Amino acid sequence: KEMNETEIITTFLRLVGGLGDVLTGLSKALQKKGHLVEIVLPKYDCMNYELIRDFKALDVAVESYFDGRLFKNKIWVGTVEGLPVYFIEPHHPSKFFWRGQFYGEHDDFKRFSFFSRAALELLLQAGKRPDIVHCHDWQTAFVAPLYWDLYVPKGLSSARICFTCHNFAYQGNAPASELASCGLDVHQLNRQDRMQDNSSRDRVNAVKGAIVFSNIVTTVSPTYAQEMLTPEGGCGLHPTLNLHSKKFVGILNGIDAEAWNPATDRFLKVQYHAHDIEGKAENKEGLRRYLGMTSASGDQPLVACITRLVPQKGVHLIRHALFRTLELGGQFILLVWIMALGILLMREFEEIGNHFRDHEHARLLLKYDESLSHLIYAASDMFIIPSLFEPCGLTQMIAMRYGSIPIARKTGGLNDSVFDLDDNSIPVQYRNGFTFLTADEQAFNSALERAFYHYKNNVDEWKQLVQKVMTIDFSWDSSALLYEELYMKSVTRAKTANR
Ligand code: GLC
Repeated sequence: KEMNETEIITTFLRLVGGLGDVLTGLSKALQKKGHLVEIVLPKYDCMNYELIRDFKALDVAVESYFDGRLFKNKIWVGTVEGLPVYFIEPHHPSKFFWRGQFYGEHDDFKRFSFFSRAALELLLQAGKRPDIVHCHDWQTAFVAPLYWDLYVPKGLSSARICFTCHNFAYQGNAPASELASCGLDVHQLNRQDRMQDNSSRDRVNAVKGAIVFSNIVTTVSPTYAQEMLTPEGGCGLHPTLNLHSKKFVGILNGIDAEAWNPATDRFLKVQYHAHDIEGKAENKEGLRRYLGMTSASGDQPLVACITRLVPQKGVHLIRHALFRTLELGGQFILLVWIMALGILLMREFEEIGNHFRDHEHARLLLKYDESLSHLIYAASDMFIIPSLFEPCGLTQMIAMRYGSIPIARKTGGLNDSVFDLDDNSIPVQYRNGFTFLTADEQAFNSALERAFYHYKNNVDEWKQLVQKVMTIDFSWDSSALLYEELYMKSVTRAKTANR
């Protein structure tokens, strides 16, 4: 089989948030290059199945082993954004994927090790022999050790395994005894230091297993990959990553340039292009009116932030940004999606939100609202991303596509996509925003104030900056090419070795 008719099975876990965007974007780009890409995920109860085309259950169930017993899995198929997707619905008394949420359950380790094993059984029993199995995040990290230990002997030997970690803060860490449920031999693995957690002898670490057993390990930006190799940034996995650094690489994510396109965006009041940004001002005025904010004078910039409310995102700086923006005479809109676990943060932001309820120049919106997010990207002049760490980050790229200038902390993928306007060490053509290094208010202020200064004092320069960032290519095309090269090299290497 030539690589351009390769079958790639992507195992991915959630169709929401950044990971969902990335998986659809990468898969679509690979499909466009002629690859057959198929996706496998759990059949969660909390997904909208009405959006799936030709959705149906298959007649034959796939059986998979767990805790010493065989369980039947019903398999559903359908098409999502042109991509074939398989959904696994286990008949297990614990109702693994019928919990009303995607993750954050007490038995996540069990649920996802079950899923990893069932996904491999699906390949085996459906006669699929992919060239690449690409797994994402710790929830599918069990696939790599299971594959080499149990499935290659069963004849599923065509594939190379690629593991992508979107956030090394989540590793799938559990007492060693839990690993046996999916059929892995924990004693043997630990004896060879292949899955034992680096800081606790009686625990296992799923991501460590994936790093050791996969043929390719990637993460979602070059800077984050570098950070992961250091003791300070490596979340305890740096010794393992350093040992396997030859197969470890950081590739910056792309964004779905069709879904995020101000020239065709159906959510916007007025669509606009890089060569004609008049419509941007109309969207700004429209959103202010819609949210009941005072319409501001021309030199009052609208600063926005769209994020999940988790410590990673630099919550204290987000809160600070709101107050500082108002002091500087700007307007501020925050749209946050609160995670189930963040009750305290939620209370705090609800209070701030109430405080600003009728404020002329600020709005805090605590909800997940896709259409509103499009309006905010289009309306805003500046967009803040003050993350403490950020594996890639997609919002800075989306903001730029809509002509909103990013103000970002220099970390992870932000450091690979946002380049400071005032930094003379960077070639002028790459400069596209404002950055700061330390995660404190002073450093943030300096970046925000510089942005305000440019906005107010040089209207033409700002307009050119807006037009310039809108034309930067953040589409998946170039990143997908890098993944394709990695896949090909790995497949070729395996063939040569077998000869
Ligand atoms: C995770 C990371 C984020 C990244 C996304 C997609 O959510 O925290 O930085 O952009 O995955 O890879």
